[in-house]
Amino acid sequence: MHSRMRPHYYLSTEIFQREQSKIFRKAWLFAGLKTLLSKQNAFITRKISGIPIVIQNFHGELRAFENICLHRNALLQTQPVGRRPLVCTYHAWRYDANGQVDHIPDCDTIYRFDSKEKCNLKLRQFALHVVGNVLFINLADKPIPFEEQFSPEFIELLESSSNTYDSEVMVTTWHGKFNWKLAYENLRDANHPRFVHPKSLAKTVKFTPSVDDALFRESGLPLTDTSPSALRHEMRRFSYAGADAPIPDLQHLGWHESVERWGDQDSYYNWLAFPNLHIASANGGFSFTLEHHIPIAPDRTDLEIYWFTARKKQAYAFSHQVLLAQMHGSKLVVGEDVEIMERVQAALHADAPLPTQGAYESTNRLVERWYTTLMDDDHDI
Ligand code: FES
Ligand SMILES: [Fe+2]
Repeated sequence: MHSRMRPHYYLSTEIFQREQSKIFRKAWLFAGLKTLLSKQNAFITRKISGIPIVIQNFHGELRAFENICLHRNALLQTQPVGRRPLVCTYHAWRYDANGQVDHIPDCDTIYRFDSKEKCNLKLRQFALHVVGNVLFINLADKPIPFEEQFSPEFIELLESSSNTYDSEVMVTTWHGKFNWKLAYENLRDANHPRFVHPKSLAKTVKFTPSVDDALFRESGLPLTDTSPSALRHEMRRFSYAGADAPIPDLQHLGWHESVERWGDQDSYYNWLAFPNLHIASANGGFSFTLEHHIPIAPDRTDLEIYWFTARKKQAYAFSHQVLLAQMHGSKLVVGEDVEIMERVQAALHADAPLPTQGAYESTNRLVERWYTTLMDDDHDI
């Protein structure tokens, strides 16, 4: 059976722009970890859907603003993480918790703004939603309800697990030469680990591809209701969480004793949040990897990856080595995925054959059905 995904969805700049406006400027997107923002004036900066964002703690309240000064467009906060008031480094305009300019040095003498002009100096603010320790942002003027994008079960599992994240975090960004959609397709493909990761991940975790007959039948039918609310409801099905595959011989390491394990199964846990967030625990809840896939161009995706353990019972001297070891593990496993995805991307051209899918790929087929409806027609979420 042929996929609905034509090559231009992975190659076209025009499609990329359409995805940005129809998906990334509409949906709730991962924005960061709350543990990095626990102190007054702590901030993180990001570029989300092309927009520079600052998320900052103002006396315990987290706020998200466009990170561009209203004077002459300098970045307000210039570091990826830090702690300082929201003051521009160019001419020292200062902003308050509402994004309002509240101090301009020598305003009356050299700028001569009247009070109305001053009142209008307010940063663009974005909606934030916090689930446990995970921050989501929405770039739309009128954000869709968070609960329409994610199911109650998903939210509950994300909340309970992320509340156990430790505050010591290692982060890096890898630059991939592939379209962001190849990443979510790969993550929903339980048949690839034994071939792509035979010497790494698949050695310990037993992934088994399965077929859901009802889903298989449904994935061949067109979407009947394409109203915005039906399309949002459909999107909820693409995010799920839970124990994905057993780890028959979970290796117990010394540091496991020092953290509060989340869950009690020797399983590979997955939190897949459509469109571009993947959290996993490949050791039954002792530590986590959070992957954020950031579309940069049709053939470029940044992989921002965070490593952290479950919360420490007490500090121990070699905890950063534990995170470093997790990072090396990911470098290997994610590296194997990246290699495959980059080869797929490199082989694509306008007349490349449509992929042929089997019954086990029904989840990806459901996503494609939704995606092509959204991209090809005058539909919106
Ligand atoms: S550009 Fe920010 S104060 Fe001038
Ligand atoms: Fe993989």
